[in-house]
Amino acid sequence: MMKIINVKLSHCEYDIFINDSGFNFEAIQSKLINRKIAIISNDVVAPLYLDSVQSELSPFNSEIFSHILPDGEQFKNQDSWLSILDFLAENNFNRSDLLISLGGGVICDMTGFAAASWMRGIDFIQVPTSLLAQVDASVGGKTGINHLKGKNLIGAFHQPKAVIINTSTLTTLPNREFKSGLGEAIKYGFINQPNFIQWMDANSYGIKQLDLALISELISQCCQFKTEIVQQDEKESGIRALLNLGHTFGHAIETITQYKQYSHGEAVAIGMVMAAELSVILNLSNKNLRKELENHLQDFNLQTKLSKKIEASSLVELMRLDKKVINRKHRLILMKSIGKAFIQKNVCEEKILKAITQCQ
Ligand SMILES: NC(=O)c1ccc[n+]([C@@H]2O[C@H](COP(=O)([O-])OP(=O)(O)OC[C@H]3O[C@@H](n4cnc5c(N)ncnc54)[C@H](O)[C@@H]3O)[C@@H](O)[C@H]2O)c1
Ligand SMILES: [Zn+2]
Repeated sequence: MMKIINVKLSHCEYDIFINDSGFNFEAIQSKLINRKIAIISNDVVAPLYLDSVQSELSPFNSEIFSHILPDGEQFKNQDSWLSILDFLAENNFNRSDLLISLGGGVICDMTGFAAASWMRGIDFIQVPTSLLAQVDASVGGKTGINHLKGKNLIGAFHQPKAVIINTSTLTTLPNREFKSGLGEAIKYGFINQPNFIQWMDANSYGIKQLDLALISELISQCCQFKTEIVQQDEKESGIRALLNLGHTFGHAIETITQYKQYSHGEAVAIGMVMAAELSVILNLSNKNLRKELENHLQDFNLQTKLSKKIEASSLVELMRLDKKVINRKHRLILMKSIGKAFIQKNVCEEKILKAITQCQ
């Protein structure tokens, strides 16, 4: 059964389609005809799904190209982005043509950024294949690549024309990546959906067993939560910042370990525990918050602490690069309780150092 979530912004509107099997491109056939299509994927996902995507697209279009990048967050960089632009140039792609991402969040973000920058913006469609990309990265129009100095420092807001989710792609996703997506899904509950946390807890066995009916419900709820926030604040001048819960810490953890030790969702899970600890240190939440968070994360086998010690001051130094830091006073997302996240300005570094130290 197909679920559809509509995203309505001031300047555009698109649908997120959630299918249990197949990609069902017929739902968006009017967006596919009479234009060249470039599928951007990587060397892990393409061997698994490129053929079926191409054959499902073929009734609607015969001019389908593909460009395959090396897999991994370390390739979410200027070279990969430029290679997409070179590919579009070589194949004479113009403003009326279309890009389709096929992969996890890395491919979704890079394809979106290439679409945003080629000829000042061409259309693209997200086909996310990792749980993390299906619940988060493919929705909302944030696109970008990493800079040596930090994650996602180069990018643009560029909304897709549609998001096509085929949950059966999750059957080939490595378990660790699946867990990573769950970290990002739980995040919505901690931000403003306490009932969703209860739903996840009640269904944790089935979710972990990859019961696709449950997973499809989980994805649909997450897409709905994200959509509600993005619709209120597309460019992150206010409430959208809440979606960064755990991310300022998480990005610093990913950068310092050179994206090798923790997946994005794993780093965010630890980052959310750090944010909970900081909320307690600042007397802004109840004392049990950290323990409560840890229990929920552990239910899904997510790590709640750094496995190897990292110098707290080095992490804070990286956090300074975050787009939200002014005069070494940090703007962070903290929690009053589960489901009550808020933006806290002017957090001083001494307290952040303490929170990090107490989380390892
Ligand atoms: N734009 C946004 O709003 C947003 C939100 C959250 C995260 N992100 C970004 O998303 C990225 C993380 O995404 P991710 O966790 O999907 O990482 P990823 O894209 O690296 O995918 C994880 C791994 O799983 C593989 N994979 C993906 N789908 C598969 C499948 N169906 N079968 C087998 N293997 C598969 C990938 O090739 C990769 O090796 C980060 O770069 C992060 O910054 C962006
Ligand atoms: Zn994230």
